[in-house]
Amino acid sequence: LRPWRVLGFESSCDETGVALVECREGEAPRLLAQGLHSQIEMHQAYGGVVPELASRDHIRRVLPLTRQVLQSADLGLHELDAIAYTQGPGLAGALLVGAGTAVALAASLGLPALPVHHLEGHLLSPFLSADPPQFPFVCLLVSGGHSQLMRVGAVGDYELLGETIDDAAGEAFDKSAKLLGLPYPGGPHLARLAESGRADAYALPRPLLHSGDLNFSFAGLKTAVLTQARKIDLQDAQLRADLAASTQAAIVEVLLKKSLAALKQTGLRRLVVAGGVGANRSLRQALDQACARRGVRVHYPELALCTDNGAMIALAAAMRWQATQAGQPSQPAPTAPAP
Ligand code: KG4
Ligand code: ZN
Repeated sequence: LRPWRVLGFESSCDETGVALVECREGEAPRLLAQGLHSQIEMHQAYGGVVPELASRDHIRRVLPLTRQVLQSADLGLHELDAIAYTQGPGLAGALLVGAGTAVALAASLGLPALPVHHLEGHLLSPFLSADPPQFPFVCLLVSGGHSQLMRVGAVGDYELLGETIDDAAGEAFDKSAKLLGLPYPGGPHLARLAESGRADAYALPRPLLHSGDLNFSFAGLKTAVLTQARKIDLQDAQLRADLAASTQAAIVEVLLKKSLAALKQTGLRRLVVAGGVGANRSLRQALDQACARRGVRVHYPELALCTDNGAMIALAAAMRWQATQAGQPSQPAPTAPAP
């Protein structure tokens, strides 16, 4: 049987991602090529993403990246079977670039254009790793825009167990980092600074830790960091590192305890961590340690696929296609507000 190939576009925020995924019968989908352009440097001067600039840059990058991806896979447009794109959630103007490109390309080639929910892309991304998970599992999805715990039974079978009631975990990292004078996006910078700090230097709150449910809240933590930051000399490198380490420890502890509670509640013994914050080394260490003690296996996406990328979008479309081919009852695709 001829392989089935899908080109995927991601443009929900500040990364333009294009990737090509191939499915062969009886095999796991394979990533053939991918291209990514990060706009981080462009937005850094403004301390955050400027939506208008993001849209314009996606327009500049999307076709050259597409050409580059096809070239490195040594394939032509006529060898594709579908075009996938991030439908949302994300910045409306940015999403429109990926959606418009995909829909136009699909129409001109007579192929289906497949909308993919951005979070479905994140949560399936570990299936491209060397150690892919098996269904069912608990997914901790922690990105710049979302913090969720889900029970994932199969492709399309997603049960929300808990989510943030205010800021996302990545937002907590980014906003705290900004208070410490670190560049955007602050998560990785704060993590690096935390390496030379003492995690118990400041007593910061662990919001909703004992709420009895699986929801998160990080807004109060940010306020507590602000209060501390105002009390100390931020020029003092050690004090800054201590505050960074204490902040990271608070976020990690909440994510860890809630993940363990979700595993207990569902009775599952597999945890998948996805989204940008899943790249955090301290979080990975804490989860690995606690899960090893409980006989729970933890799976992560490849580091480069934790943050936004086109591969996860093409993959999600491919896994949906495979599920239909396998005759599995088709699960409705999660829908995001169309851009
Ligand atoms: O998944 P993602 O690329 O975008 C969204 O869909 O939101 O996640 C980006 C988020 C940012 O908040 C960034 O600071 C955070 O992930 N992040 C990290 C690390 N790497 C990325 N946070 C903590 N530690 C890291 N190493
Ligand atoms: Zn994302």
